Amino acid sequence: MNAITRRDFVRNSIATGVTAAGIASASSGTETPRDDAVEIVAISCSPRQGQATATSLKVCLEAAALVSPRIKTELIELAGRKINGDLAAGIPLEPGQKDDFPALIPKLTDPKVRGIIIGTPVYFGNMSSLCKAFLDRWMAFYRDNLALADKVGGVLAVGGTRNGGQEATVQSVQVSLFCQEMIVVGNGRPHSRFGATLWSGAEGGVTKDEFGMTTARNLGRRVAETALRIQS
Ligand SMILES: Cc1cc2nc3c(=O)[nH]c(=O)nc-3n(C[C@H](O)[C@H](O)[C@H](O)COP(=O)(O)O)c2cc1C
Repeated sequence: MNAITRRDFVRNSIATGVTAAGIASASSGTETPRDDAVEIVAISCSPRQGQATATSLKVCLEAAALVSPRIKTELIELAGRKINGDLAAGIPLEPGQKDDFPALIPKLTDPKVRGIIIGTPVYFGNMSSLCKAFLDRWMAFYRDNLALADKVGGVLAVGGTRNGGQEATVQSVQVSLFCQEMIVVGNGRPHSRFGATLWSGAEGGVTKDEFGMTTARNLGRRVAETALRIQS
């Protein structure tokens, strides 16, 4: 199969009619108008918009932004987007069908984006099918001379129970990031474990999961610190 070039990605993205403006409208973030900005993007892979995974990623990004005024953050939610994993295996869409993955490519491959944090709900001890389809579509980056290599990667998982498979899920996502030659980090000190592991079943919701919130903040900080270090 022919290698897919970055130019092809952009062309595909235009062909789908889904523009970069579509990304911006569905994302939030702090604006840091600096030339030396280091961007950290978090992707929520829950099919439910604005729920525990997105909430936890916001906390993660807030902590990242505190590391330095150079850090710019953005949250992108996959909820409501169609991401077809079959395309990764070369199975084409039906005529007339569109997929929302190409619209995300310019952001993910932007050289200013130095860190990518993947957040997923725990579904039966693993990532959501939306997350898997999204990461499988990264086959395009894998083929494009490993377009995401050396970006910093972090993973956050939210389960409905305290020990519902968050760590297994984090590891499962990390494998995909390793395959992209990303620099995978865990949640930073003082715990220094796999990544962020949260419990949405806590009384009052995920923000009341004090331990999980700490792991989210430490992950954000660790991704930002590492991204800045690599940049310099
Ligand atoms: C199909 C499915 C499977 C799930 N499996 C697990 C599980 O194995 N462990 C767990 O802790 N929670 C599990 N949950 C609960 C979700 O992880 C939890 O509700 C989480 O907060 C969802 O993220 P969201 O609020 O961002 O959508 C499951 C939920 C669904 C829908």
